[in-house]
Amino acid sequence: MRHLIDIMDLSVKELDEMIEVAKDIIAHPDQYAHKCDGKKLATLFFEPSTRTRLSFEAAMYELGGNVLGFSEAQSSSAAKGESVADTVRTVGAYADIIAMRHPKEGAPVVGIRRSTVPLINAGDGGHNHPTQTLTDLLTISREKGKLEGLTIGLCGDLKFGRTVHSLINAMSRYPGNKFILISPDELRIPEYLKYETLEKQHIEYVETDDLEDAMPQLDILYMTRVQRERFFNEQDYLRLKDSYILTPEKLENAKEDLSILHPLPRVNEISVAVDDDPRARYFEQVRNGKFIRMALILKLLEEAKA
Ligand code: NCD
Repeated sequence: MRHLIDIMDLSVKELDEMIEVAKDIIAHPDQYAHKCDGKKLATLFFEPSTRTRLSFEAAMYELGGNVLGFSEAQSSSAAKGESVADTVRTVGAYADIIAMRHPKEGAPVVGIRRSTVPLINAGDGGHNHPTQTLTDLLTISREKGKLEGLTIGLCGDLKFGRTVHSLINAMSRYPGNKFILISPDELRIPEYLKYETLEKQHIEYVETDDLEDAMPQLDILYMTRVQRERFFNEQDYLRLKDSYILTPEKLENAKEDLSILHPLPRVNEISVAVDDDPRARYFEQVRNGKFIRMALILKLLEEAKA
């Protein structure tokens, strides 16, 4: 059984193929409208979500399938003490494929142990978020026409931001990409990512706390929210939450063809005045999330059949 727990579960060839399928879906949606007739997707969300859950649900509907699930742990038997493994095994009796979000790092690995259907990690704690990365890759590919030779600035909470971790892993696999990691000292990327991914593969990167200094070099600026729910104390969150606020003034030295991305939700880190800048692509990124999830559902259901 094929699952998607980590972005590294997919080869570069598979990533490229899925991006092509998503582009084909965008161009010819009618050809995909009945691909999942009679199939069901379950969304098991133990943590809040707007985009990830609803884009999965919209994706399945647009493929002709149906959706069931829950959007908070309190409304499931987790509130009675059921384990993730039992919940996933149970839902496999009703659905053909599962998307699960959980606050605990590694929960999806426990989930797949007894799963009879493909399981997709829709975010596990501060660890990984592979389907946001698929969304980001499709967006970068559509915006830039390539996934290589880019200077990517990641800014904000690089420590707890799971989308950042998965994106660094994915973009490290395409040649010639360089990372500028912009964060306060306390919110730098985890050591494992620095040593296991960047250093080991000799990928060019710099760590800085200065967004404006980095700005002129960037092809992509990936802004992120400070992840309040992962902090151990509120004081630290309050101190760090407004470390970076992107405004039109700060974009004055940016490239004309910069793409500004953000996995959303945004809190304060991008001023709404930036939304009118043609380089602001985060709402287009939201749209891409549905198409790439359609491509993912198709792929995993196809492989489950084989
Ligand atoms: C992200 C997440 O859940 O990690 N949101 C999303 O899925 N688009 C980012 C965030 O919550 O800050």
